[in-house]
Amino acid sequence: MITATKPFSPPLEMFQDKVSEIFKNKWFTNHGPMVTKLEQNLKKYFNVPYLVLVSNGTIALQIAIKALELKGEIITTPYSYVATTSTIIWENCIPRFADIDPITLNIDPLKIKEQITSNTKAILATNVYGYPCDFDEIKAISNEYGIPVIYDNAHGFSTKFKNSDILNFGDISTISFHATKLFHSVEGGAIVCQDEKTYKKLLLLRNFGHTSPNTFDGVGINGKMNELCAAMGLVNLNFAEEICKKRKSQWLFYKDKLSDYPINSMNYNLTEIDFNYAYFPIIFESETKLLNVIKHLEKNNISVRRYFNPSLNTLNYIPIKDECPISEDISKRVLCLPLYHDLTVEEQNLILTKIKEIC
Ligand SMILES: Cc1ncc(COP(=O)(O)O)c(C=O)c1O
Repeated sequence: MITATKPFSPPLEMFQDKVSEIFKNKWFTNHGPMVTKLEQNLKKYFNVPYLVLVSNGTIALQIAIKALELKGEIITTPYSYVATTSTIIWENCIPRFADIDPITLNIDPLKIKEQITSNTKAILATNVYGYPCDFDEIKAISNEYGIPVIYDNAHGFSTKFKNSDILNFGDISTISFHATKLFHSVEGGAIVCQDEKTYKKLLLLRNFGHTSPNTFDGVGINGKMNELCAAMGLVNLNFAEEICKKRKSQWLFYKDKLSDYPINSMNYNLTEIDFNYAYFPIIFESETKLLNVIKHLEKNNISVRRYFNPSLNTLNYIPIKDECPISEDISKRVLCLPLYHDLTVEEQNLILTKIKEIC
């Protein structure tokens, strides 16, 4: 069986050593030494001014929206994982969708501009598959209209733009360390911001609003990462470079082998971008073709993921319907090929052979 994703598993003894330390300390959660160390190490790894670890990438988005005190419409991308939209609704804001660029699959700045009204309070954009949004254009819009930008950078571990980590863009940027991500802490996430005032707010929001054991400032939530997850993160960080290197070679292998086939894969412009090659999406000519390929792969014990599907503007709980024809079309025809650290060249070849049998 070839699965769509598989978590990176570090040597068990390395994780066991950390777990032994946790048991010795008897400190399982509430900002223990593992979380503190992982926060320091990731801050250094990303070279960001402020970083707050949280329990997952979804709560990271919720806390980001809370920290910016957003109430009203947020312009967002229809092409992302459901959490990008559901967090907006969960925080009692209204998502307004701006369609995507058909080449990068990221939100199109021109479409953002078309959606701006006096009700617009912010932009929430995803760096889809780890590829940066058009940061310069989005920054110009943000400045022109005086609205903040949140980047959902769940996929973007270790991508750089103009030599700066991708997390350094926007007012707030979030990341997921879910087990399926390039770098993971089983469950986990982080929020990055650029100023101390926002950082202090993030700390309060993550921890029930505690300013001391018996005093509170505002409504907070439990967004804390626990020590076991942080331990996994600390161990996995030792392998980050190796994981990224392998991912790039696997990505380029797929790209090369598909080059003589009528199958669309991503043609990224990598000028000024140090890309993380986290996912390998392919886009078929029709949904029927995609469904036939999935059926054939499943018959051969290969599972793939329709990622992203559906287009988020079509979710049944969206209060205002916005049409996004590009996202609606692509999300019906896209799937991500298996891509994870343990995937072998033989498995990649088998996947490609089976796809080519249908295409
Ligand atoms: C684009 C995007 N945003 C948000 C999330 C949510 O992250 P988490 O699963 O850590 O809550 C994910 C997770 O897969 C994602 O892909």
